[in-house]
Amino acid sequence: MSNKQTRQFVNSLSEGDIARGIYQVIDARVIKNYLDLRLGDKTGSIPMKIWDWRDNDEEMGFLAVKGEKAMLNGIRVEIFDGRVLQFAAARLSDIKRNGTITYAQPGTYDEDDFVASSDRNAEELLEELGALVSSVKNARYRALLDRFFQKESAAYAQFAIWPAAVGQHHAYKGGLLEHTVNVTKLCDFLCSNYKHIDRDLLITGALLHDIGKLKSYDSSGNGTKPEVSLDGVFMDHIALGCSMIEEAIDELEADKGIFGTGQWEPMERRLMLHMILAHHGELEWGSPVKPVIMEAQLLHFADNTDAWANRFERALEYAGEGERGTMKRLENMDRFIYIPLKKI
Ligand SMILES: [Fe+2]
Ligand SMILES: [Fe+2]
Repeated sequence: MSNKQTRQFVNSLSEGDIARGIYQVIDARVIKNYLDLRLGDKTGSIPMKIWDWRDNDEEMGFLAVKGEKAMLNGIRVEIFDGRVLQFAAARLSDIKRNGTITYAQPGTYDEDDFVASSDRNAEELLEELGALVSSVKNARYRALLDRFFQKESAAYAQFAIWPAAVGQHHAYKGGLLEHTVNVTKLCDFLCSNYKHIDRDLLITGALLHDIGKLKSYDSSGNGTKPEVSLDGVFMDHIALGCSMIEEAIDELEADKGIFGTGQWEPMERRLMLHMILAHHGELEWGSPVKPVIMEAQLLHFADNTDAWANRFERALEYAGEGERGTMKRLENMDRFIYIPLKKI
């Protein structure tokens, strides 16, 4: 028999519930005499204040450490400020006396319960990715794609689990693959709807547009804990992706064997790099140049469309029952959004 605790996920909690179960410390800040805590799981998080906090408390100090797990043994869920769900505030001394929060030993919970991941089936997404790669006819673009997306390449294994962001959109395990497939499918649709598009350029650019994220995020936690890497801080994914692709093209040109492509036309190389560099659309959104070709403009819109669709999708998917019919503030959208009464 499993010794794992049954648990109530954050998105199933509503006002008046008595929470019992294990939650992870998502954030913890000491502010004057209290600990401003955020506890959560893969479905969301809920704030809690602990009064009369004492730093380095032997028994309860773990609550100030991000990633630690806390067992809640009957903490009331209440509504604050008319709309924000929170765990009822408590005094540190009361928590210790009554044992309402205790340390959760590793092994008493499923780590997966705390890892946000793509809702989509990774195998299916990889199959879709493979079909999109195979649909590219230009031999040089195809060879470039194969360097990253061939099953044997190191980038492929990493790509399958990598997050696409730290906090913006697709910020979870498998997010980069999901986002890339979505963006490329949107681009594929645009090719069938408009004229004057070089489909091979658009599809290749879409598949590679965020490849720099393999370097701009850290590998710690196998993609499960999105963190910006040092290269990410200093260069970010657009510049990193651009140099990864330049390097790959150089190698393809230098390779005299069957995988080599020979020389690329200077304009062909330029177009491919432009797809990466211009995909954020505006200088103030991180692109060093605005799109100067239709393919780059459409890639930018497809990228943005998927990023925004994902923000709404996740917010609606993981909205708590108590939040239905209310406005909810979301930091990654910088606004309040309305959570409809019924989940569609
Ligand atoms: Fe990007
Ligand atoms: Fe993107």
